[in-house]
Amino acid sequence: MTALNNLPAYYDDIELSFEEAWSVVKAGVTNRHNPAHMPAVGTVDETGGPQLRIMVLRDVSRESRTLRFHTDARSAKADQLRQKNATSVLIYDHPAKIQIRLSGEARLVLEGDIADAAWDSSTPFARRCYMAEAAPGSSSIKPSSGLPDWIEGRQPEEDQLAEYRSNFAAMIVDVTTIEWLYLANAGHRRARWHFDMAKDSWTGGWLVP
Ligand SMILES: Cc1cc2nc3c(=O)[nH]c(=O)nc-3n(C[C@H](O)[C@H](O)[C@H](O)COP(=O)(O)O)c2cc1C
Repeated sequence: MTALNNLPAYYDDIELSFEEAWSVVKAGVTNRHNPAHMPAVGTVDETGGPQLRIMVLRDVSRESRTLRFHTDARSAKADQLRQKNATSVLIYDHPAKIQIRLSGEARLVLEGDIADAAWDSSTPFARRCYMAEAAPGSSSIKPSSGLPDWIEGRQPEEDQLAEYRSNFAAMIVDVTTIEWLYLANAGHRRARWHFDMAKDSWTGGWLVP
C-alpha cells in the first residue's frame, strides 16, 4: 500500500479548516486570477427555481461576515433579491482542491457610503456597463451591447458616468452558513459552520463528505 501523506495542517483540524475557508474566499478579492475571484452566485427566481450566474467578488469581511458584489439595480437578480433575499455563493479552488459554499441573505445597497465607495472603486470602463439604456436582460431586435451609440468603444468620463450612478448597486451578502469540502486521496473532509446570532459566534462541525 502507498502511504497517503503530505496532508495540510487543516486536514483534521476544524479550527484551521475554518481559517482556511475564509482565506480561500478572501484571496479572490485581491487576485483576479484566483479561482475565488469569479464565484457562481445563486438566487431564487419568482417560480422558486434556482438562478446562477458568475459575478466578480469585490470585497470580503470576515468580521462582518459579508461579501460584496456589484450589479445593475435593474437586473433580474436584483428583482429576485427584492422578492426573496436567499443567496448562495459557490467557489472551487482547483489547485487547493477546496470547494466552499457560502449561504445567507443578500441586500442591494444603492445609496450611501458603501454604494458610493463601491462606485468610486470601479474603473470608468467597468462602470460603463451601467450606461445601458434598457435594463439588462431586456429583449433587443438587433445584436447590441445595450450602450448608447456615442459611448461604444470609448471610455466614459466621470461626468458622463454620473447620471447612470442610480443604475449601480452594491450587493452585500450576509453570510450565515459556510460549507467546506476538501478533496484528498487519503479521504475527503467536509465541514459546515453556521453563525449563531444569539451567541454572536460561529459553530460548526465535521460532516460525512
Ligand atoms: C467573468 C464574468 C464576470 C461577471 N461579473 C459580473 C458582476 O460582477 N456583476 C454582475 O452583475 N454580472 C456579472 N457578470 C454577468 C452575469 O454573469 C450575468 O450574466 C448578468 O449579471 C445577468 O444576470 P441576471 O439576469 O441573473 O441578473 C459576469 C459574467 C462573467 C462571464
